[in-house]
This record gives sequence, structure tokens and C-alpha cells, in this order.
Amino acid sequence: MNERASVGCRPRVYLETYGCQMNIADSQTVTAVLRRAGYDLAEKAEDADVILLNTCAIREHAGERVLGRLSDLARMKNRRPEIRLGLLGCMAQHNRAALVEKAPHLDLIAGPDSYRRLPEMIGRAGFDPAVDVRLDRAETYADITPEHDGSIRAYVTAMRGCDKFCAFCVVPYVRGRERSIAPADLLREIAELAERGVREVVLLGQTVNAYRFGEVDFGALLRMVARVAGIERIRFTSPHPSDMTDSVIDAMASEAKVQPYLHLPVQSGSNRILAAMDRGYTVEEYLRLVERLRAAIPSLALSTDIIVGFHGEERRDYEETLALMRTVRYDQAFTFKYSVRENTRAYKLGDTVSEEEKSRRLAEVIALQEATSLELNRASIGSVFAVLVEGPARRGEGMLSGKTPQFKTAIFPALGARPGDTIKVRVESATAHTLMCAAV
Ligand code: 5AD
Ligand code: SF4
Repeated sequence: MNERASVGCRPRVYLETYGCQMNIADSQTVTAVLRRAGYDLAEKAEDADVILLNTCAIREHAGERVLGRLSDLARMKNRRPEIRLGLLGCMAQHNRAALVEKAPHLDLIAGPDSYRRLPEMIGRAGFDPAVDVRLDRAETYADITPEHDGSIRAYVTAMRGCDKFCAFCVVPYVRGRERSIAPADLLREIAELAERGVREVVLLGQTVNAYRFGEVDFGALLRMVARVAGIERIRFTSPHPSDMTDSVIDAMASEAKVQPYLHLPVQSGSNRILAAMDRGYTVEEYLRLVERLRAAIPSLALSTDIIVGFHGEERRDYEETLALMRTVRYDQAFTFKYSVRENTRAYKLGDTVSEEEKSRRLAEVIALQEATSLELNRASIGSVFAVLVEGPARRGEGMLSGKTPQFKTAIFPALGARPGDTIKVRVESATAHTLMCAAV
């Protein structure tokens, strides 16, 4: 029996999170569920009675990382057979059958709609793992207040699931159908967060701007959140271009708290590929949307997601993606090699672009984006931005960091500022990812 794990009478749980913001937010819900059931949190796996991995299934690579970690933990379990080992989240949902077979050391496997039942699943003793991967159209965890980490920014899940079924994407299968959380529940949670010092709220959802609860659409929700006292900045991620309605654009343009930054995943610059992906828009429609957004919100910064090497992507399709990037000039881009995912509609089509060619295309996309980010950031040298102070900068003694309204990382001398303060800074120099600033 491990000495440290047995100290005190409350069992201790260690939770490790992989993947997107939604998973980080889900882990805060899991923590709240387990606290209610009498668990304490452990800082490291070695100190815990229960070890849980909240996992991601979006690309194969995400799964490989988790499997690597699982084999480390299996060795730990050989030394300490009393620990309980569990896999949560999208990979649990996606790979449940294979996991039951291939990972005999797992005690429980819980999908994203099963977190309420975790305490009983952990408590269940037996040789077979407890498996609960039922997707539940009604589960929103609206009554469970996620455990906030104490920072000035909080992520609040506004809707769960996705109904878009893009041909490459596993999310609708592992997170289930779209469902929105009642505005009253969201507003209560956000007001509580504001009282505890949160100044910036990021509304989350796989297609967050598809939010709808009765008469309340996402634009209306933004306006409601803007009325919450103490909240100074509102952001959201990730919207889908097809749900970027006038209502949402108007709210962004007219509510001062809604920040001028938008992550607008495009995926490809080729109409042929966009159609094959089932994205629901053409390049021309996307560019018109960008124009409308920029006309309504002149200081808007844009980021995007791009996939290279989707089934059937030819060199000329890919060059159209580069051309689109040059036209839009994104502030930032998250770029991925296409990864074939089981269950998705594109699965049976397979891979047509070699791994080497995907790597070449990815490198080129990244180089173009780095150059654009650097140009745009350098162009902001001399400008003054209001920065919401987050805390000490990762590098640089006595330096603080925070985000500009456009969600760029600014580094500046502390000079007595504290987390949660908003201060004015002037950009003095810039890299592709950071603005080095002086106090104004
Ligand atoms: N392969 C590569 N990238 C993917 N994404 C989603 N599914 C896949 C996949 N099968 C990317 C998309 C999405 C982001 C969250 O992950 O760009 O917007
Ligand atoms: Fe996946 Fe498309 Fe839904 Fe985004 S909108 S989560 S890419 S299916």
C-alpha cells in the first residue's frame, strides 16, 4: 500500500486532461462531481488512489499519446494494484471496444455524457471494467458548477455536442447531438465566477454559435452575458461559419465587452474539398462573411483551422488554401494533417495523400502563417492596447503577461499591476506569437 495515498481518509484522484478547451472544461465538471462524492485532488499520479485520463479522439496522434501514457500507468498499477485507472472523454467513447480488449488494466471507461455516474463506477469492484458510454441528448451538467482554477479567465460550456457531421470529424459521434444550456443557468454560473474574481469569460461549444435555447440565440446570449456585473471581457469558441448570423455579428459589433477576436475555422480554400468535407459553405461565401465581419468590427483579429491532405486533395486544391490564407491574412492558424477517423463519413474513402506530402504541405502552410503573423504583429508596433493582466510571464523576471482584445499575448513590466487589472501598454517589438510591450 502506498504510504502517501493512504494518508487521511478521503480518497485522492488525479485527473489528466488531453485535447481541446471543451475537455479542460469537462475536467472541471468531473472534479466537481468527484469532490461532491468525497474525493480530494492529488497533484501527481503517484499520490493518487484513482487516476483518470480525460482524452481526445480528434486525430490519431491524440490517441497515440494517451496509449503511451496508459502503458506507463499500467506499470504503476502493477506495483500498486489497488489504484483504480480510468479513461474518460472522446477516446473512451470512440475506442471503447478496442480498449476493453487491449487495456486490461483499465477499471473504468466513461464517455462525455457519463460523468455524473463516475463515483459509482469508481466504487464498483470487479474484474471487468465499468463501461458507460451512453450518449444522452439531455445531459448538460447544468446543475453541476465546474471547479474553477482561480484564474481571471473562465471557460463556460454553453452548448454540447455537434450536429454538423463534417465528413472528416469524429466529434458528432463521440460527443453526441447538439444541446444548449439554459441562459438562466449560464448567467448564474457566470455571475458566481465574477464574484470570485473572474474578469473574462469564454463561452464554449463545438459549434458555439449554433446555441439556441427557446427564443434565445447566440447573439441574444452574448448580450445577456454582457449585462453580468464584473465580467469585463467576453469571448467564445469555436463558431461555425454557417452559424455566423447577423444576430451574432451585431452583438459582437455593439457589445463593448465582446472582444474583437474570432476563431473562424475554414479547413480548406478549395470549393471541391469544402464540398467533399460537407462544410456547408463555399470559399466565396466564407470570404463574404469575413468582409461583413471586418466591416462591422474594424479591429477584428481572425484565426482559423486548416486541414491539409484531406481525401482527394490535389496540389491545386492545396494551392487554393494558400491563396485563401493570403487573401484573409489570418492573425493565427491551427494547422493539421488529415487523419482518417473510424466511423466518420470520410473513413471509407481512405487516405489519398502520402504522409510525406502531407508533411510538406503542412510545413508550407505553417511557414506562410508564421510570416503573416509576424507581419501583422510587427505592424502593431507603436500601437496601444488595453491588456487584461493574467499573471507572471513564463519568461522574463518581473514581467507580466495578458491578452490584448485581439487575443494576442502581450508581455510587459509588472510595475505594480495585478491579475485582473486592465492596463494600457504600447507594443515595442513583436514576434509571430508575442507582443513585447511597455507600460503607457
Ligand atoms: N484530421 C485532421 N484534423 C481534424 N480536425 C477535426 N477532425 C480532423 C481530422 N480527422 C481539425 C479541424 C477542426 C479542429 C478542431 O481539428 O480543423 O476544426
Ligand atoms: Fe467536427 Fe464539423 Fe462539428 Fe466542428 S462542426 S465539431 S469540425 S463535425
